[in-house]
Amino acid sequence: MSIQREKRLAAEAAAQLVEDGMIVGLGTGSTVAYLLPALAERGLDLRCVATSPATEHTARELGIDVESFRGANAVTHLDITIDGADQVAPSGWLVKGGGGAHTREKAVAAAADRFVVIVSSNKLVDRLTPPVPLELLEFGLAATLERLEAVRLRNVPLSPEGGVIADYTGAFDDPEELAMRLSSTVGVLEHGLFPPTLVSDVIVARGEQVERIPVTRSDASARRRGPTAPYPSSSDR
Ligand code: 5RP
Repeated sequence: MSIQREKRLAAEAAAQLVEDGMIVGLGTGSTVAYLLPALAERGLDLRCVATSPATEHTARELGIDVESFRGANAVTHLDITIDGADQVAPSGWLVKGGGGAHTREKAVAAAADRFVVIVSSNKLVDRLTPPVPLELLEFGLAATLERLEAVRLRNVPLSPEGGVIADYTGAFDDPEELAMRLSSTVGVLEHGLFPPTLVSDVIVARGEQVERIPVTRSDASARRRGPTAPYPSSSDR
C-alpha cells in the first residue's frame, strides 16, 4: 500500500467531517492536497481560511471560498481545521512545518474548535525526533542562531510573514521542555512543536483501513482545559 494512497484515504475521511455552513481552516502539504478536491466535491456552503499561498491558490481553483485571516477584522473562530503532520507521537505531540507553514498552521489550528490531523501510517512515531521546523525573525538572525546553537537554515524564500525558515537539529527527549525553550528564545517567531492540547483527533490510514484516534475532546472548552482522553498505546491502535 502506498503512502500516497494512505494520505488520500485519511484526507477523504476528514472531508466527511465538514458540514454545511462551517468555517474551515485548510492546512498545507501533500496530504491536504487530497483534502481540497474531496472537500470541493461535497459542494458545501463553506467559508475557509488557508495556511499558505499554495493552499489558497489550489482551493480557489477548485471553487472553494477562501477569505483572509489577516488583521483585526478577520474571522476569529473556526469550526474545524484539518492539516497534515510530519510526526505524531503517542502522547499526541506533533512536529509540523515540513512545508515551512507552521506559523500560520498553528494560528489556524488554535482558532478552531476542532483540529483534525490527517496522516499516513508512517507519520506515527514512538517519539519525536529532530528536525523541528522554526520560523525566525530576520532582524538579529545571527544572534538568534548563536542562542539556539543547533539550527540549519533552509534554502527557501522568506515566509509570507517575512520570517526565515529553519530547523532546530538538536537532540531532545521532552517536546514540552523544548517547546518552552524555543518559545522563550528571542528571535524565534514560531516552532513546529504542536502540543496535544491543540489536537482534537488524528485520522490515520493504514493500508485500506482508516482510524480516528481521539487526542483531546473535540470541543474548544475541553482543549482549553487540557488533554482529557489518553492517546491509545500502540497495542490499542
Ligand atoms: C507543512 C506541514 C505539513 O502538514 C507537514 O509537513 C506534512 O506534509 P505532507 O502532508 O506533505 O506529508 O506542516 O508546513
